[in-house]
Amino acid sequence: MEKYIIVILALSFACLSLDAFEPSPLQDFCVADSTTSARVNGHACKNPSSVGANDFSFSGLHMPGNTSNPNGSKVTPVTVSQLPGLNTLGISMVRIDYLPWGINPPHTHPRATEILTVIEGSLQRNVGTVNAVAIAALSSQNPGVITIANAVFGSKPDFSGDVLAKAFQVDKSVVDQLQTIF
Ligand SMILES: *[C@@H]1O[C@H](CO)[C@@H](O)[C@H](O)[C@H]1NC(C)=O
Ligand SMILES: *[C@@H]1O[C@H](CO)[C@@H](O)[C@H](O)[C@H]1NC(C)=O
Repeated sequence: MEKYIIVILALSFACLSLDAFEPSPLQDFCVADSTTSARVNGHACKNPSSVGANDFSFSGLHMPGNTSNPNGSKVTPVTVSQLPGLNTLGISMVRIDYLPWGINPPHTHPRATEILTVIEGSLQRNVGTVNAVAIAALSSQNPGVITIANAVFGSKPDFSGDVLAKAFQVDKSVVDQLQTIF
């Protein structure tokens, strides 16, 4: 199969990411402690004496995600939630699988810049006849994600339909329908 390697440097919403940074850590590691109720920016550090090799290891990125959903794609994240050793280190990664014609809906990462490599297939949407796979790295242990359609049409409380109809220059019935989906 023909393979394309495309590297996309996505400075998504540069104005947001300019002040979105994680400071240099003051210790070699600070494994996330998911048991403490201490409130810190990020996660509190686990006692170093109970830190083990598995805090720094994640297995499974070789496995395709389940793409049987309306997006026809699946993001498998490796953020501080899956890999506690990433805490304070300012980095994470994801695997994205796409069915033919699958999409990863338009979104932004409020805390991260992203660099993405297409391993197999071709994107933006997967226009090929076989599955596509991409690996992306993000400059935050917890990049966050704001999916545009969910944020606009699925916000709670709702945006007023009249406002959205005017903003998107469509009939209000179109907005009403979109608001029932998201
Ligand atoms: C994939 O997801 C679909 C929809 O949720 C589910 O029906 C199916 O069992 C899943 N397949 C696997 C292999 O987990
Ligand atoms: C589709 O993708 C969006 C953004 O990643 C996500 O919020 C939504 O849950 C996905 N829908 C399904 C059915 O997987």
